Amino acid sequence: MREAPHTDVDPIAAFQRLFAEALQRETADASAAALATADAEGRPSVRMVLVKGVDAQGFRFFTNLGSRKARELQENPRAALCFHWPVLARSSRRCPTARRGLRKIHGCSPAICG
Ligand SMILES: Cc1cc2nc3c(=O)[nH]c(=O)nc-3n(C[C@H](O)[C@H](O)[C@H](O)COP(=O)(O)O)c2cc1C
Repeated sequence: MREAPHTDVDPIAAFQRLFAEALQRETADASAAALATADAEGRPSVRMVLVKGVDAQGFRFFTNLGSRKARELQENPRAALCFHWPVLARSSRRCPTARRGLRKIHGCSPAICG
């Protein structure tokens, strides 16, 4: 029997389903994503992060507040995330606005892009 198509249009729920499938089926770490930021003058920069969770608050990852990405997100909260899931033959681009998380763990702070 074929699974019924998902009819909800909640973009978070849709991403959560895709993310869960990628985490299950991909051979590499499916939580890795390229995070693009830009400084106050709009100069771009990109690097990999591990996305630890996705919910209505946004995409959660951890980083050092002294890092370039943290500094740039403070100056300019507009960001972009790009996941690549070759087994699923999918990539997913998200363009959230960042804010700082509340908790501090081992010197790293969660940033939330939502
Ligand atoms: C697969 C992978 C996952 C990474 N995950 C993180 C992460 O979750 N947080 C982080 O701060 N750096 C992570 N890094 C290191 C960053 O890509 C980057 O080199 C470092 O954080 C410095 O970035 P910045 O100078 O632009 O802030 C990861 C690197 C790789 C290759």
